[in-house]
Amino acid sequence: MNVCVVGLGYMGLPTALLLAKAGCDVFGFDIVREKVDNLNQGILPFDESGMDELFTSAKDRFRAFSDLETIPDVDVFLIAVPTPFSKDKTCDLKYVESATESITHLIRPGSLVILESTVRPGTTVDVVRPLLEKSGLKAGQDFSLAYVSEKAIPGNTIIEMVNNDRIIGGIDDKSCERTKELYQKFVKGDIFLTSCTMAETAKLVENAYRDVNIAFANELVRICEPLGIDTWEVIKLANKHPRVDVHLPGPGVGGHCIAVDPWFLVQGVDADSSRLVRVARDINDSAPGYVFGLLKKIIAKNNIQSPRIGILGVAYKKNVDDARSTPSEDIISLCGSEGWNVMIHDPYVTDFPHKISKDISDVIRNSDVLVIITDHDDYRKVDFSGSVVLDTRNMEIKAKEYHVLGARE
Ligand SMILES: NC(=O)c1ccc[n+]([C@@H]2O[C@H](COP(=O)([O-])OP(=O)(O)OC[C@H]3O[C@@H](n4cnc5c(N)ncnc54)[C@H](O)[C@@H]3O)[C@@H](O)[C@H]2O)c1
Repeated sequence: MNVCVVGLGYMGLPTALLLAKAGCDVFGFDIVREKVDNLNQGILPFDESGMDELFTSAKDRFRAFSDLETIPDVDVFLIAVPTPFSKDKTCDLKYVESATESITHLIRPGSLVILESTVRPGTTVDVVRPLLEKSGLKAGQDFSLAYVSEKAIPGNTIIEMVNNDRIIGGIDDKSCERTKELYQKFVKGDIFLTSCTMAETAKLVENAYRDVNIAFANELVRICEPLGIDTWEVIKLANKHPRVDVHLPGPGVGGHCIAVDPWFLVQGVDADSSRLVRVARDINDSAPGYVFGLLKKIIAKNNIQSPRIGILGVAYKKNVDDARSTPSEDIISLCGSEGWNVMIHDPYVTDFPHKISKDISDVIRNSDVLVIITDHDDYRKVDFSGSVVLDTRNMEIKAKEYHVLGARE
């Protein structure tokens, strides 16, 4: 089977390689020429556990292209392009639209088109379908169309892509069955078939659920503080209940999914009918400001006149190099607005709007207060015995003066 994967990013590339490893001939297409050239020379665009081995085992059946017109005839198009978050908090479909338009003249009777990008409910049917039908072919009648949600996380992408359950939404039974047949080539998890809009919505519900749960934990921090009790301990004890699973608080929610997908879910829904999701977003968006308030108290308590702050970790989660929508950015800019000197360390992240030091000793030596934003395992090996530390992740480290978000002072 010939497959064209449109968009060779964190999702598209591993999916393309897994399909190639499973025996499909895969033609990857990306608009970034440098990425394509690098891939064809064996240079991967990002670090991901298991990617090197996967690439080695798949490379005979995978080639990257920057010009769609040079790709041989394919049976399946799989679109995995970005869906950024617009300023008005809606799902920006410009990449999905342009990717769809670019393949419209290439689909044939019998083609299967799959959308994998995270989108607002209704996109496959209301946006992708009419664009593809400009070809003169009818979805369902002449070609198949499906939406497949993706839930892999950086650092564990390949394992999750293979082992997670998949929800496949098709515009008809044939689209579902054909898409299932394709994914069964490498997916070991269960596959559930439904409609396109149901699959799109279920994907958003997964992340909105997690966002609401984290917001609850972040609110508990504010409830527990005046009570003088430790939020982490309260959550640990409450979670002993067999049907309770409260998530952990933190400095805010980053990444391209949990902080964004709830907005896609409520897009077009009036505010009164979607209050919980919106309030959860507000609570999590205000978490960096709460951390900054704690930092100010620590600075005042230690009578520091011209504070020098060391930010430890800008990745949005531990042990990865992905800093998209990281709460660190808000905390750094709040420090900057006070005129404080800020040094930033992260062992993995290189792509960031501020300078990142890779020398943690230098950051420790030149900071009055260190703020742990990301619980990278590397920080467990660091000697903080001479430092004042504000830890937003409860890493249980030893420091000269140790403050933990949500813990009793
Ligand atoms: N990264 C994740 O962990 C994750 C998880 C679940 C869902 N998603 C969703 O999957 C989608 C893709 O995310 P990603 O992280 O892979 O994005 P990414 O930014 O890593 O990669 C997208 C790729 O698409 C390319 N591209 C953009 N427009 C194109 C076009 N018209 N034709 C061909 N290529 C084009 C870009 O150059 C880029 O290489 C998004 O909707 C995202 O929300 C991502």
